[in-house]
Amino acid sequence: MDDHIISRASACGKIILCGEHAVVYARPAIALPLASIRAHAVITRGIPGAGLCFVAPDLGRRWLLAATPDDPMAELVTTTLRRLGVTQPLDLRITVTSELPIASGMGSGAAIATAVVRALAAALDRTLEPADISAQVYDSERRYHGTPSGIDNTVVAYEQAIWFQRRAEPPHVIEPITIGAPFTLLIGDTGVRSATRMPVGDVRRRWQEDPAHYEALFDQVAAIVTRTRTVLASGDLGTLGALLNQNQELLERIGVSSPELERLVDAARSAGAYGAKLSGAGWGGVMIALVDDGSADSVRSALVQAGATRVLQTTVGAG
Ligand code: PMV
Repeated sequence: MDDHIISRASACGKIILCGEHAVVYARPAIALPLASIRAHAVITRGIPGAGLCFVAPDLGRRWLLAATPDDPMAELVTTTLRRLGVTQPLDLRITVTSELPIASGMGSGAAIATAVVRALAAALDRTLEPADISAQVYDSERRYHGTPSGIDNTVVAYEQAIWFQRRAEPPHVIEPITIGAPFTLLIGDTGVRSATRMPVGDVRRRWQEDPAHYEALFDQVAAIVTRTRTVLASGDLGTLGALLNQNQELLERIGVSSPELERLVDAARSAGAYGAKLSGAGWGGVMIALVDDGSADSVRSALVQAGATRVLQTTVGAG
């Protein structure tokens, strides 16, 4: 096998600062890229005549596109190649790896898909605009999640802090967010893996049973997201923390929190965080805590003590 590398690409992880779930129902949300935690795709020459082959060493998996044409990854590659004008079969090996834990709310699926689309474009000496990449990845996310809002693929493809609001038809509202003063978040992982479609599907069922109740909750989330945008521009950490706490309370009422998440949220607040909330789909995955230099170490220790399997740190708006 010739391991000559034809192209390689990566894509960032993400966290949702506020507005998850309500964003599926056309309310705004704010998402942040995690530039230091990435998924990677490497394209090398494949076995002549075998077509496209995927290798996922993290999962111990290797499979041929021809054998699984309905697999979401296979469909992503097929539609991307079609978009790039490729009609004849290609003998390529695509190896995907990721530093992002799966089903944790950090955008692992969107990051892997984005890295693959970028690597395919690079292999063909083509550049795709973020909007094109995002659209390709959204179609793939739909296969996994059913009714994704589109925020994950958007923040990962653009790799910048965004305000996102879904419209009935694209183009959705995608605006860069102004960060007045850098701020630091700790990301605590519950270690509980929860596939996005489960809580998203559960919220939908309950919303169908009682739309007025959930629409009112989503409106309250939207008001918090709108205030958060203003506060991010001014850099008032105390108010930002209070808004994160309010969003957590609404997420609990929406029914997507969990005892493990709340243990970490409570521990972070008691140890001096300005505010804390779950991030992403919930029922597991990660939470975020807003800290400063004075509280970061004690909040990190408190999260580990409360059961966090991993604590990451990211500074938003620095450079
Ligand atoms: O995939 P996650 O865990 O980052 O969740 C995405 C955020 C949701 O609002 C829950 C779903 C969506 O499609 O926006």
